[in-house]
Amino acid sequence: MQNKTVLITGGNAGIGLETARALAKQGATVVIVARDAAKGQEAVADVKQTTGNNKVSFMKCDLGSQKQIRQLVIDFKSKYDRLDVLVNNAGAFFSEYGETEDGIERQFAINHLGPFLLTNLLLDTLTASAPARIVNVASRAHYRGHIYFDNLYFKNNYDGFRLAYGQSKLGNVLFTNELARRLAGTGVTANSLHPGVVATDIARKESKGIYRLGWTLLKPFMITTEQGAATSIYLASSPEVEGVTGKYFDKSKAKMASKEALDATIALKLWQVSEKLTALA
Ligand SMILES: NC(=O)c1ccc[n+]([C@@H]2O[C@H](COP(=O)([O-])OP(=O)(O)OC[C@H]3O[C@@H](n4cnc5c(N)ncnc54)[C@H](OP(=O)(O)O)[C@@H]3O)[C@@H](O)[C@H]2O)c1
Repeated sequence: MQNKTVLITGGNAGIGLETARALAKQGATVVIVARDAAKGQEAVADVKQTTGNNKVSFMKCDLGSQKQIRQLVIDFKSKYDRLDVLVNNAGAFFSEYGETEDGIERQFAINHLGPFLLTNLLLDTLTASAPARIVNVASRAHYRGHIYFDNLYFKNNYDGFRLAYGQSKLGNVLFTNELARRLAGTGVTANSLHPGVVATDIARKESKGIYRLGWTLLKPFMITTEQGAATSIYLASSPEVEGVTGKYFDKSKAKMASKEALDATIALKLWQVSEKLTALA
């Protein structure tokens, strides 16, 4: 990964931090995006110290704010002239309904629209840096997901896991597949993945009740963040997946995504809706 520049969202914790460490260890220039400056700086210090690589920096962005995403891209392009790997890793789970400053349900905004907007705004830099890779951290929760085009936010029937999280993670796979189709021939690949059920705090820090309790009780039986980052690292850096695009991976192996995830009509419709919601259209 020498001479390669990598941007990792949510690189300050969990799977993202482990991915940052591994890619820095391989010699990459690593940009960690975090929403909290103190956590971002702490992660930079950690990655530098654990890898001996000093080409690690932090950029601040809350992916629930389209304004901040646009500013992040301006800042990134002013400092870096290439981007070889974009890892859309940041993600959140909320047991209770809530909206972002843009008036969008939080999981749809942070997990799907955030990476959608960020990736689209970085496509020129990625294409100019080809061969380049986009790695989208989805989830096997997408198998239970469905895109509710008539009720995207579940304002009156919110169910954090079954409806909102599943929809947002299905969004990641649909986005990846449509992106791969649009990027054909550019030398930029796009793949999505399930990291495993990983002992992070994702379902604990912004949730209440049964979700919080359940995750806390099950955490000791989950795989480690090192194990959970393996597929992200593989897709970001392995020569084995050079040129591979539009696939969904689990345990570093291509796997069949859900029927809905493979539906090109739904992927196109979601792309068009997402373009409108992010004012990209
Ligand atoms: N853990 C699992 O079992 C599992 C399973 C399937 C898929 N995944 C996916 O794996 C990815 C990483 O999750 P994780 O398990 O490593 O969880 P995590 O430890 O909670 O890490 C999530 C990262 O995303 C960041 N993030 C959350 N909301 C954000 C926002 N609004 N703006 C910017 N960054 C934000 C977090 O920042 P803060 O530190 O500030 O919160 C953190 O850096 C997610 O996409 C998740 O959906 C995880």
